[in-house]
Amino acid sequence: MKYPFEKHFLVCIGARCSDPERGIERGECIQAELKEHNKTMKRKATVRVCTVSCLELCDHGPNMIVDDIVYSHLTRETAREVYAGVMGDGPPRDDLQLSEEEFRAGGSAALKK
Ligand code: FES
Repeated sequence: MKYPFEKHFLVCIGARCSDPERGIERGECIQAELKEHNKTMKRKATVRVCTVSCLELCDHGPNMIVDDIVYSHLTRETAREVYAGVMGDGPPRDDLQLSEEEFRAGGSAALKK
């Protein structure tokens, strides 16, 4: 069967995105807050805010993927703005997408394929 949810926000909680030095702006906190916001918006039955262990984009974190688009350097606030833009609750935040240029300057294994 096809997975029955309409949208997936994949928030990285890997070691670098969730470095304790980031404090409350680390991946774990971003995911927890966004998950709670999703519940508040009564979208639990259609939208999932999931954790992933590492997206191999560690130089640019905290990272989140939705609809195959990468959003980087997130905070709790900007992640919520991305969510709002994607879900139609606010303006799109395309400016928070990881740029191709920055990706190419980083050390992702995806550059080596
Ligand atoms: S720890 Fe988040 S991309 Fe690697």
